[in-house]
Amino acid sequence: MVKYSCERCGKEFKQKGHYMKHLQRKTPCDNIKDTIESNLEAKLDKLIEIKVKEIFSTLQDNNTNLIVNKERNSTTMNSKNLTFIDLFSGIGGFHQALSKLGCKCTLACDIDKNCRKIYKKNYGMGVLKDVKLINPEEIGDIDIICGGFPCQAFSNAGKKKTFSDDRGLLFDEIIRIAKNKKPKFMFLENVKHILKVGNCEVIEYIKDKISKCGYHLQIFKMSPHEYGIPQERQRIYFVCVRNDIYNQKEIELPPKIENETIELDKFLDKKEDINEKYFIKGDVLECLNAWDEMIKEFDVDEKISPTIMINEHYNNHTEEDFDNYAQWRKDYITKNKPLINKYKDKWDAWYEKHKDILKKREIYGKLEWQVGKIKPNDSIFNYFIQIRQSGIRVKKAKYFPTLVAISQIPIYGKEKRYITPRECARLQSFPEDFIISEEDKDAYKQFGNAVNVENVRTVIKSTFNHYDVYLSENS
Ligand SMILES: C[S@@+](CC[C@H](N)C(=O)[O-])C[C@H]1O[C@@H](n2cnc3c(N)ncnc32)[C@H](O)[C@@H]1O
Repeated sequence: MVKYSCERCGKEFKQKGHYMKHLQRKTPCDNIKDTIESNLEAKLDKLIEIKVKEIFSTLQDNNTNLIVNKERNSTTMNSKNLTFIDLFSGIGGFHQALSKLGCKCTLACDIDKNCRKIYKKNYGMGVLKDVKLINPEEIGDIDIICGGFPCQAFSNAGKKKTFSDDRGLLFDEIIRIAKNKKPKFMFLENVKHILKVGNCEVIEYIKDKISKCGYHLQIFKMSPHEYGIPQERQRIYFVCVRNDIYNQKEIELPPKIENETIELDKFLDKKEDINEKYFIKGDVLECLNAWDEMIKEFDVDEKISPTIMINEHYNNHTEEDFDNYAQWRKDYITKNKPLINKYKDKWDAWYEKHKDILKKREIYGKLEWQVGKIKPNDSIFNYFIQIRQSGIRVKKAKYFPTLVAISQIPIYGKEKRYITPRECARLQSFPEDFIISEEDKDAYKQFGNAVNVENVRTVIKSTFNHYDVYLSENS
């Protein structure tokens, strides 16, 4: 019969003496050891759990503080709160870049109705017609002005008329609006020749106007091919920072990745998917085939004059005619002579066979071979080709030549076809869902005039980073 039971371990005793002895023991009873151990373990587990929870919650607080601090520091400038006006908007290269960075467009303006149509389709907003008609008093506050101001008056493709051309002065319209609205930043773009034309008068004029308007100017020169996009297109970017924001330090662009191999294929459609209309045919094909025949006659390592003007050689000019030619024409004829004499029989037979097509258009008789010495199995179709005012230009097939607004659509020699408008869109870094004009002529012109979206984004993002503008995650 059990009389005594230990409260600590539950052991039972029949005799009091044994029970008292048990209570006086210094070491714990044997049968409580396990209980104590498991109680201790449970207590420890609990303590660890509490401690871990504490640590996690401290970490979370710190993290939230970090995020909060980041936002707090940037509350002055958060890209989501920045508005921009898109002057000379074209099809919105700047719009693409700025909206990717979170900014909001409040006004766009372009005189070309086809551009306006495409702009509206893509960005869902109406576009004003003439920059000259913008009354700054009628538009709200703006943080950014962007604009690739018309370049015809400055570019090589135009006639370099600089200030004698009214379009050159459209730059003044930007300054007129900037003086009134005082945006924080201006991002402007133009062709690289702007740095030199008019004995540098144009660039000095621009710098002076920007400075007098209260902005610090930093100029960048860049091309898509320097950042992994296969188009060589040197352009000048003007970054203007309002003087009160300017931090006395220069903005740095990310390092160029020029030497990395660019995968052309990523930018090209599959040959089998390309509409028949883009493949060269007729006179262009006949003329290129003719030149290709002659290219194959040259020895490997033959140095081809940069420009061959074959019709000039066979036009039966007299000595007197020659003397009366302009100097540049004389120079070409003289420079072409050694190559023509070296392969005289071949040239003669070839010219006789193809003279009709070569003479059909002046430019068909001019070859601008810009790909170095003749290589084994060389062919005109190993390269990019452009039928230009100056002749048939053959360029290395590493990068596409600059897309231009005038009709010099690059021919992708390997596939004997023009590049398509969608491929032009890719070379200008417009997204795949960009709605392109159904008229190819307009589409080529628009992409030829546009800014490269990725290049512009790089310039603007670098500026934003430099000025601690808080960027949303997808920027
Ligand atoms: C170099 S493009 C700019 C292209 C644009 N940045 C883009 O990404 O598509 C110049 C544009 O200025 C426009 N333009 C010329 N004169 C203008 C004027 N008076 N007012 C507004 N736009 C004008 C042209 O129609 C052309 O689209």
